Amino acid sequence: MGTSVAEVVHASAWPLRVQPANSADVAEIVALNNLFAPDGLTLHRSEAFVVSHLQDYQLVRGPDGALLGQVALDEYSPSLVELVSLAVAPEAQGHGLGQRLITAAERLARVRGYPELFAISLAEPLFLRMGFLESTILRYPEKIARYRAISRSELSIGRKFCFAKALASHATAR
Ligand SMILES: CC(C)(COP(=O)(O)OP(=O)(O)OC[C@H]1O[C@@H](n2cnc3c(N)ncnc32)[C@H](O)[C@@H]1OP(=O)(O)O)[C@@H](O)C(=O)NCCC(=O)NCCS
Repeated sequence: MGTSVAEVVHASAWPLRVQPANSADVAEIVALNNLFAPDGLTLHRSEAFVVSHLQDYQLVRGPDGALLGQVALDEYSPSLVELVSLAVAPEAQGHGLGQRLITAAERLARVRGYPELFAISLAEPLFLRMGFLESTILRYPEKIARYRAISRSELSIGRKFCFAKALASHATAR
């Protein structure tokens, strides 16, 4: 019988690491991200998008090398960045990888000096648990403009929530 994902994720012998992505990862990143796009949980991403944001992606792989999870930062300006493409493979969900990936994205955003990180998601309890506060997309006209450029319907898919977390002492994320 094979080892379950839960056993793998919690195995002390397997140091779970969040790693930066490289060009060999592009196809897998696109596939995992777009698995959830038909349900409106992620925005559809092209290979071109992933290639142009490769330095913004962080990944978790299983001991067999399979991609289990990913997250990325999407910069609008030096003072505005969004957490995007958060996705965990269905068989690996519910074991804390989402939290690890959000923490990794937050750490990278801090290192890069962004004052605040925001996200649009249906996963409300997860973001609240991670110290994000519920916000409103109206604070981010850049995001509304980008949604419109992709597809007007994206704005109305599901009941998505906007979350923000202040990363610097002078920031005010509401
Ligand atoms: C959201 C997601 C990344 C969480 O990954 P994960 O590894 O399962 O997360 P964790 O194990 O760290 O935490 C699980 C928590 O996520 C929350 N969660 C996950 N999916 C959710 C959803 N669709 N709606 C509401 N909450 C959700 C739950 O509150 C769960 O908490 P619980 O353990 O108390 O039930 C994963 O479910 C996923 O890839 N979903 C599809 C894509 C998606 O929705 N991405 C978010 C876009 S920002």
